[in-house]
Amino acid sequence: MNLTLKVWRQKSAKDKGQMVEYKVTEISEHMSFLEMMDVLNEQLVNSGDEPVAFDHDCREGICGMCSMYINGEAHGPDRGVTTCQLHMRMFKDGDTITIEPFRAKAFPVIKDLVVDRMSFERIQQAGGYISVNTSGNTQDANAIPISKQAADEAMDAATCIGCGACVASCKNSSAMLFVGAKVSQYALLPQGQVEAADRVMNMVAQMDAEGFGNCTNTGACEVECPKGISLENIARMNREYLSASLKG
Ligand code: SF4
Ligand code: FES
Repeated sequence: MNLTLKVWRQKSAKDKGQMVEYKVTEISEHMSFLEMMDVLNEQLVNSGDEPVAFDHDCREGICGMCSMYINGEAHGPDRGVTTCQLHMRMFKDGDTITIEPFRAKAFPVIKDLVVDRMSFERIQQAGGYISVNTSGNTQDANAIPISKQAADEAMDAATCIGCGACVASCKNSSAMLFVGAKVSQYALLPQGQVEAADRVMNMVAQMDAEGFGNCTNTGACEVECPKGISLENIARMNREYLSASLKG
């Protein structure tokens, strides 16, 4: 395949940035999108130009690092995949592909396609954990009964990889699908009950402090989420929040 790429280039957080056009040739349909980007970068390095900066780590849909906005969609045109799992067979010979960073006030661009998602880390630090008694009296996890339904729903919520596609897809730059998943994975389990009220209050307060917008039930986040995180997690977070506010 021969392709035209329109790529967002931005030297630093302070630089204005612009779309720059490149041509790549002989791209195999079996390549992943990141492998295609590697071809572009090799070409740029060989011609003495600076390669395009983009985030990646696992390249198998686990780490949540590869944050590209491809042809107007977070992680591109396929469903249930991250950018590293996106294959070039989703495109046709002669296509023009637009590649931008995830855009949101709370995800400032660091360089080219790399954005700063530390806001997600700070939300996690505000309550996305449980405290475990390590005094030697720790209860065996297998001795705590958990219903199959609660275990399945908690596991589904825990598959969120913190990629930020939900924020990038939302017209309000809302992080509620991410925070809803993180609150839910503990709210559904007995181990999460001790700190449940503080957790949801603190995580929502941090989410607001970071400048994420509110949810207006558009549902774009659920459509673009590579892990199929359900909107039900937002509803559960809202219920947890209401119940914690009434207790407070
Ligand atoms: S909810 Fe989905 S889109 Fe949002 S951070 Fe988690 S995995 Fe990514
Ligand atoms: S590089 Fe890890 S999810 Fe894509």
